[in-house]
Amino acid sequence: MSVLDFQKMKNAGHKISMVTCYDYSNARAVADSNIDCILVGDSLAMVMHGHPTTLSATIAMMALHTAAVARGAPTKFIVADLPFLSYRKGLKDAMDSVQELMSAGAHAVKLEGVRGHADIVRHIVESGVPVMGHLGLTPQSINLLGGMKVQARTDTAVEILAAQARELEEAGCFSLVLECVPSEAARKVTDLLKISTIGIGAGPNVNGQVLVYQDVLGLNPGFRPKFLRSYADMFGMIQVALNAYDRDVKEGSFPSESESYEAQPTSLQLAHRAA
Ligand code: KIV
Repeated sequence: MSVLDFQKMKNAGHKISMVTCYDYSNARAVADSNIDCILVGDSLAMVMHGHPTTLSATIAMMALHTAAVARGAPTKFIVADLPFLSYRKGLKDAMDSVQELMSAGAHAVKLEGVRGHADIVRHIVESGVPVMGHLGLTPQSINLLGGMKVQARTDTAVEILAAQARELEEAGCFSLVLECVPSEAARKVTDLLKISTIGIGAGPNVNGQVLVYQDVLGLNPGFRPKFLRSYADMFGMIQVALNAYDRDVKEGSFPSESESYEAQPTSLQLAHRAA
């Protein structure tokens, strides 16, 4: 998949599948799957590092995880998130951040919102770096939004969402994440834009879906927002496997003889075996 396929797939009516990924070994699993593309999301601050919000993600963290994912999934299209404030401190800082992520192996960057940084989006794109936008619930603005709440629930808010989506398209974004907005709002934005929309909690009227890897696999027990469909209970499977290993160690059945090394056979033993 290349950046051009996002538009082609929208035009052809083919849905785009995207999943977050943050590390080498899980990137290998995504690489061997049919998933179209990977987001190294700043959600890694929460999922991989246990922080309560995405605000703790830094450019160093994003670059480290992006490089690991790029080594594990060298054939997938990788989008990396520009973390909190990394594109709000002027053009030079923004471009340094973009450079870090692209040097780490990303093929595109994602950033949240548009107010006050449309020119930066334009400059990044004109520098040869594809940009994915992100509107609706923008977790980097959690303190302004007053929590992780569904956005664009009124006609006025939908108009603002649509205008911002147009602004991002005009600035050169190749695709747009719509997070936690009503289905009808997502349909309106998707119909309005030439570029593809990727939803999370935005219903089916979008051009593709993105979910957090750990949520898809059921590795985050207790997190069950309305929009989430988990496809496995990996947390439970890990418990079963770890407890079986613990039992075998404590019973003395692991390791067995066949799982143990022998001393080098003496020449006398070798002669007997040969005879
Ligand atoms: O960081 C992230 O995982 C994201 C997705 C929720 C779209 O931005």
